[in-house]
Amino acid sequence: MTPPHRMGAPVSARAIRSQIESRMRPTAKELIEQLRGQNGRAELMADYFEPIGVRCVADSYGFFDVPTETLRHWFHSLKSGAINTATNEDGSFANPAGFDAANQTRDEIREYLELRSKDDPEEPDSVIARWVKVDAPDGTPWTIDDILPSMLVVLLGGLQEPGHALGNTFLGLTTNPDQLKRVIADKSLVPKAIAEGLRWIAPLWAGPTRSAKHDMVVHGVPLKKGDTIRLVYGSANHDSNTFEHPELYDIDRDSHAHLAFGNGRHSCLGSAIAPQIGRVGLEELFSAFPNIAIDPEQPAEAIGWPFHGPPQLNVILDDSSR
Ligand code: HEM
Repeated sequence: MTPPHRMGAPVSARAIRSQIESRMRPTAKELIEQLRGQNGRAELMADYFEPIGVRCVADSYGFFDVPTETLRHWFHSLKSGAINTATNEDGSFANPAGFDAANQTRDEIREYLELRSKDDPEEPDSVIARWVKVDAPDGTPWTIDDILPSMLVVLLGGLQEPGHALGNTFLGLTTNPDQLKRVIADKSLVPKAIAEGLRWIAPLWAGPTRSAKHDMVVHGVPLKKGDTIRLVYGSANHDSNTFEHPELYDIDRDSHAHLAFGNGRHSCLGSAIAPQIGRVGLEELFSAFPNIAIDPEQPAEAIGWPFHGPPQLNVILDDSSR
């Protein structure tokens, strides 16, 4: 049994309210300063979107001492295991060695948690220590093995997806140059831009499974009790019954009511923090580089299953000739 409800507390709307200006914006500004030293070019995923995503989420959980590059390595490595799903005809994994890197990272994280579990639980920023020491419903403290599975979900999806949300939103804006200009000129449009980015390309394109509790018919498709279905959020967000021209990125839609964070009991624990990271990230980027543009020599696209985003976003930061 794991304590997922406790995992949500450090990133809840209430918990992050005071961190937006005190921690997240300074993180963004620091990264922007590094971009300024890059001769007008950047690969935004590696240089900005992933670093701001991992730093803001990890700091909320108390991972202050883990370097940004290690956090990026953790999620990239965990992902390599999560996407290694190909099977042989007999159901065995086609590439068992494809789990090695992720398993090694899991062990590394376990070791780190062991170390942190010895922290002083009274120390205000010692979030991990508190998780490990908090009492489980039967009165015994959680062990590292209790929290590790939920922690790995946070360290894969939670560290990775804010960067994808930023990348997909930026990519969407570049498909609609007028809207890009409007958002750069009027930062109050950034939250809408992020919401439309999450709708346009759901970062977790396809996700967990659900099983039917009883026989039912869903949109004409009969399901038997026990049948398993996989939720494809990217497809739901392109439902043409809800969105006109769903394939187009358009911040002026009447509704951006997307399912990128899922729904119901197991919906995403990061749904409050992720849009705020996106907002602060884009506000600072557009303020610093109002002429930012995709490098025409290196066009970008979002790819991946089940995680979906641009692997690279090469940009020209300051094209003063425009
Ligand atoms: C834009 C960024 C993010 C997107 C698009 C996203 C998307 C999702 C989706 C689609 C689910 C499955 C929901 C369902 O089954 O109905 C999910 C679950 C989850 N997400 Fe996120 N996520 C994001 C960021 C985060 C962050 C920042 C964290 C942690 C800080 C996080 C932690 C989790 C956890 C722990 C679950 C599992 C919840 C459960 O099973 O009860 N996610 N996320």
